[in-house]
Amino acid sequence: MFEIVPERPQDAAPREALLDIAFGTDRHNRTAYRLRDGVLPVRALSYVALIDGAFQGSLSFWPIVVQGARAPLLLGPLAVDPAGRGQAVGIALVRNGLRRARRLGHDLVILVGDHAYYKRFGFIRAGRFKLEMPGPVDQDRLLIRKIPRGQIIGVTGPILPALPEVAA
Ligand SMILES: CC(C)(COP(=O)(O)OP(=O)(O)OC[C@H]1O[C@@H](n2cnc3c(N)ncnc32)[C@H](O)[C@@H]1OP(=O)(O)O)[C@@H](O)C(=O)NCCC(=O)NCCS
Repeated sequence: MFEIVPERPQDAAPREALLDIAFGTDRHNRTAYRLRDGVLPVRALSYVALIDGAFQGSLSFWPIVVQGARAPLLLGPLAVDPAGRGQAVGIALVRNGLRRARRLGHDLVILVGDHAYYKRFGFIRAGRFKLEMPGPVDQDRLLIRKIPRGQIIGVTGPILPALPEVAA
């Protein structure tokens, strides 16, 4: 059995190694990473899956800015160690993250991923909202979900990184 716990300092190295395996060492060139440059993930939403105390997978969320949402998030990256896949670890990480995001008052989640996987959590394709990612993205993989689940109204336009404000 696995457990879902807040990310610990010792999880950072296996997380990065797993992400290299899952998405490639050139993953930082992907458009989603333009929303992560210079921004920290939401610490209260960084969770890992452990099996017998050992790192097995992780999920992070990042603050973003988009018109029509008060506190939107970018979900990802989500990855589960190949040895631990197919045991609902990924599902548990996403459900845990969405539940906690709701408690923290976040109202919208956007991600780039497989609709076939994420539709179970209520994500829909975002095409109709005319959102603009900061680079090329497969529109079929741009997914969106309101928190709590519900109709999405007024969300449109550029998706921007939530860069920290720098004092002049
Ligand atoms: C995608 C990933 C996180 C799933 O983790 P997991 O713990 O193996 O998945 P779970 O056991 O929670 O879920 C299993 C279900 O998801 C389905 N599934 C897994 N990957 C899928 C995908 N890419 N597309 C559609 N369905 C998928 C399985 O068929 C299974 O469906 P079922 O419940 O109907 O039988 C894992 O395969 C992974 O790390 N992949 C590489 C990185 C990646 O693609 N991340 C997500 C992209 S945004």
